Amino acid sequence: MTTSANREQHTVSRRNFLKTTAAATALAAPYYVPASVFGANSPSNRINVGCIGVGNQGLPNLQRFLKQGDCQVVAVCDVNRGSDGYKEPGDVRGRDPARQEVERYYAEQKSVGRYNGCDAYNDFRELLARDDIDAVMLAPPDHWHEPMTIAAAAAGKDIYCEKPLGLTIGGQQKMIEAVRKHRRILQTGSHERSNPLVRQACELVRSGAIGDVKRVLAHVGRHNKVGPGPGWRPMPVPEGFDYDLWLGPASEAPYHEDRCLYNFRFHYDYAGGQITNFGAHSIDMAQWGLGMDDTGPTHVEHIYADYLPKGSLFNAATHTFFRCRYANGAVLECFTAEPSVRCIFEGTEGLVRIDNQGQNFFATPRGIWPKELTGKEKYHSGDDHVRNFLDCVRSRSEPAAPVEVGHRSATICHLGNIAIGLQAKLKWDHKSEHFVGDRSDDANSLLNRPVREWWQA
Ligand SMILES: NC(=O)c1ccc[n+]([C@@H]2O[C@H](COP(=O)([O-])OP(=O)(O)OC[C@H]3O[C@@H](n4cnc5c(N)ncnc54)[C@H](O)[C@@H]3O)[C@@H](O)[C@H]2O)c1
Repeated sequence: MTTSANREQHTVSRRNFLKTTAAATALAAPYYVPASVFGANSPSNRINVGCIGVGNQGLPNLQRFLKQGDCQVVAVCDVNRGSDGYKEPGDVRGRDPARQEVERYYAEQKSVGRYNGCDAYNDFRELLARDDIDAVMLAPPDHWHEPMTIAAAAAGKDIYCEKPLGLTIGGQQKMIEAVRKHRRILQTGSHERSNPLVRQACELVRSGAIGDVKRVLAHVGRHNKVGPGPGWRPMPVPEGFDYDLWLGPASEAPYHEDRCLYNFRFHYDYAGGQITNFGAHSIDMAQWGLGMDDTGPTHVEHIYADYLPKGSLFNAATHTFFRCRYANGAVLECFTAEPSVRCIFEGTEGLVRIDNQGQNFFATPRGIWPKELTGKEKYHSGDDHVRNFLDCVRSRSEPAAPVEVGHRSATICHLGNIAIGLQAKLKWDHKSEHFVGDRSDDANSLLNRPVREWWQA
């Protein structure tokens, strides 16, 4: 039987091997190292990956890992055995479809009729207990990010964790602690951090090309689902769906299909509404362009929020507006608007607008419009973000969106939700990460959430 001590030893020696190989290769080729250099056929050279939460976003993420020749997806995990009804009725996802996708892909790659090397789990703790898994991709609902990250870090896995980093500010601080204590690599899923266009746009802003930035507008999309209204009735839990493990640390609640797959984002027990969903992209860009990655605003103010009728299943605000102010006077306004425009920086001498999930950006005055920023219409930075993560797993260097960056960006989303929930103007001490002044007791009580007794890490 494998003890935790020899598991640790095995993991460490395997990691050292990966790192040594990367370091040796880096002398000749400092940036991207194709799998062939490592000997793709050598299992000891591959980064073994387990994918946890293979739904709407987890499946495309899994496909991004499959495409990287120097890693091998050896396991998938989902509390849903397999069903349709994710974002759209025809979206079939879950652990069985995900395993089939892995097996189909590798069978095609190896030109063999069958491939059986991917295991499927219901309980992520079984996946994390495996010695041979180096890294995990986490794309469960937001309420799972913190417990899974902490457990994965303790199990010695590197982590690609979907955005927003966590459900609460306090929870995210615990994630940082776990990642740093166990010396893991964590890439937050705000993939625009690996998008060269967004990088250029943010560098342009920070270079002073548009003068002093006075205001940044960060857009979040409105609800794209309505859900059942007041008087909705619970439904029986479908076969093959482990609802208790889906809820995990969240409060006990009657099952309804619109509570779970994809739609969890519209419920405050599992997510922060569209503010965290989109803000982890647009506010993340704002933070990057403002050069505020290791700090945050000093004030946050509720401006406006609208909700579905009381008693509806979805309780997150449908339309929102909040304002933050930084110590240097810059203002960040985050509101419900067309999400294909992500972020607009208004400077004293010009403007930079990042569009289309970072596929484009525009800058005025036209003289500073970068020349090479056209014609990449189908580009999605998710692939580069996964590649960056795997490179950092090898080199042990910081990824494009490390845990602290994910934390600071998601913190602003949580601050917005707290101010909106309290309908208040609040003072935030970004050093101690606590509210101070009026209503601070109320606001500080929302930095963490109670965990259901059923769930024990
Ligand atoms: N980076 C991006 O652009 C992007 C886009 C969409 C979603 N996301 C993020 O991805 C995450 C998932 O969102 P989604 O839209 O894919 O939701 P989803 O509901 O479609 O997928 C989540 C999956 O996790 C599974 N799951 C729930 N609890 C689990 C557990 N304990 N163990 C294993 N699996 C579990 C669910 O059954 C489901 O299949 C969210 O945090 C979301 O913010 C990121």
